[in-house]
This record gives sequence, C-alpha cells and structure tokens, in this order.
Amino acid sequence: MTRKSLAPPQIPEPGQRSLIFHDGGTIVIFNVDGRLHAIKNECPHAGAALCSGRLTGHLIQCSAHGLRFDVRTGAMSSNAGLRVHVYPILKHNDEYVLELGTDSTSVSSNATHIN
Ligand code: FES
Repeated sequence: MTRKSLAPPQIPEPGQRSLIFHDGGTIVIFNVDGRLHAIKNECPHAGAALCSGRLTGHLIQCSAHGLRFDVRTGAMSSNAGLRVHVYPILKHNDEYVLELGTDSTSVSSNATHIN
C-alpha cells in the first residue's frame, strides 16, 4: 500500500478543493463540511478532469457532459455501474494520509475521516 502524507497547503479549507499530483496523474481533494474526500481527477465517462466541476453537496458534476459522481463513494448519481476512483484519507495523530495504490472504489470501512 502506497501512502502519501498531506502537507498543510494540500488540505483544502471547507468548501474548497486541492489538486495532488501522483504517478503522472492528479487527485482532487474536496473538503465538504470539514470532511475530506479524494477522487481521481479523471471522469470515468470520457476522461475529462473533474477538478473544475461544480460541487453541490457531495456531488461533483463533470464539466464535459454533466454526469454527477458522489465524492464519498465514487458512484454516479444515476447509474451505480459507472464510478470514479476514490482514495481513502486516514488520520494518524494530527497527520492526514492519502492511501494510494488500491483499486478500491469506495472509502474503506476503517478509514477515519476528518471532522
Ligand atoms: S467526460 Fe465526464 S461526463 Fe463525459
């Protein structure tokens, strides 16, 4: 399991998002009501970047064709078969750690979210 500690500038404020570069791609971290959620910055429909999409509640809307995905689970709001990759974020003491290198499409049950 590959893990990446998040530096303070990489941790978005509530209502904000940040972009993390990893392995030739990017990951978007959203702060929704004080909780962090990380997804691959690539729409599973046709590969558009999701970082510039409109976030409403927990739903990110792809700016290319308008599909919406739940940033908590990666599931598409109207079709559970299409998912964006989700990366668990764990909290160890006061450090936030992004779990990489997993094929999980949802946050693992032992993940500790940030409140
Ligand atoms: S590329 Fe995202 S909805 Fe089509």
